[in-house]
Amino acid sequence: MALQNTPPRPDSGLSIVAHDMQEVDAVIAQRLHSDVPLVGSVSQHIISAGGKRLRPVLLLLCCGALGFTGKQRFNMAAVVEFIHTATLLHDDVVDESTLRRGFATANDTFGNPASVLVGDFLYSRAFQMMVEGQNMRIMEVLADATNTIAEGEVMQLMNMHNAELSEAGYLQVIRSKTAKLFEASARVGAILSGASPALEAACADYGQALGTAFQVIDDVLDYAGDAKRMGKNLGDDLREGKATLPLIAAMQRGTAPECAIIRSAIENGDAGLLDTVVAIVQRTGALTVAFEAAQHESLRAVASAELLPQSPYKASLVALAHQSISRDH
Ligand code: IPE
Ligand code: IPE
Ligand code: MG
Ligand code: MG
Repeated sequence: MALQNTPPRPDSGLSIVAHDMQEVDAVIAQRLHSDVPLVGSVSQHIISAGGKRLRPVLLLLCCGALGFTGKQRFNMAAVVEFIHTATLLHDDVVDESTLRRGFATANDTFGNPASVLVGDFLYSRAFQMMVEGQNMRIMEVLADATNTIAEGEVMQLMNMHNAELSEAGYLQVIRSKTAKLFEASARVGAILSGASPALEAACADYGQALGTAFQVIDDVLDYAGDAKRMGKNLGDDLREGKATLPLIAAMQRGTAPECAIIRSAIENGDAGLLDTVVAIVQRTGALTVAFEAAQHESLRAVASAELLPQSPYKASLVALAHQSISRDH
């Protein structure tokens, strides 16, 4: 099945894997195949919309940094993108989102049942491809990561409308739902490369820190970003009653009346309060606090990347860590 659009690529420093990513896109297009037409329509809908393809890029950069050039890296890169895409299909159903990658979400276009079921198709296709690779450690890492993502999404569901969620609780959710797949992608790159335990740990730590920074910035952009650039609606987190770091930090710093407004917005998922909440989040410096938390994680990622041998791939990993907090989409 041919992809209709060329997906937008991450920023320039990553051009080092641009050619490899064409191979990954070819695997993705080939392995999306199903004889069931609706599977193709739904998966094509979300995959041809692009996305940044960050997780496969991360896997390939780690392979490059550790000297692995086998073709198996393209398959495993496609696997992590399939797992990611499956989580997005399910996440947009759970979050009742209507915009993803600049287009109507699959749930909006095809309905919730089709999105959930095609998400299952993508998960299971990823697992078929993993088994073909016959590497038990990689299967273990990706099976564990997929399980942890599911736990993270369920933890987040349990904390919907919970204005008491602590910073530690928030961190636990984002480490599970987002950082885990970044960590696994980097770790798989290292395992494919036959890296030493120390270098594998450096890659995994890099991925975990990068993924955490990435999600914190995503949560900042939900209040301060541009919907067109993001390709997602702003204010979705508030509408869902999600206590993300900008709100947690604002409640720690706001006056009693300001805290009461935020608490009420979280408890009632009141998007009508969005403008007021944005003003409070800005006045209290909460966006800066969240940005600094992301910056801390990004520097932690850089420190882990520094443990890798010198190469242009390592330089790209460092650049990616810096870009992850200066991004606007
Ligand atoms: C979206 O991930 C979900 C989050 C972890 C915030 P991306 O921002 O990587 O999504 P795409 O693949 O580029 O659309
Ligand atoms: C993204 O979570 C989904 C996963 C990481 C599984 P969010 O709900 O926070 O992200 P967006 O804003 O929909 O991309
Ligand atoms: Mg969502
Ligand atoms: Mg969500």
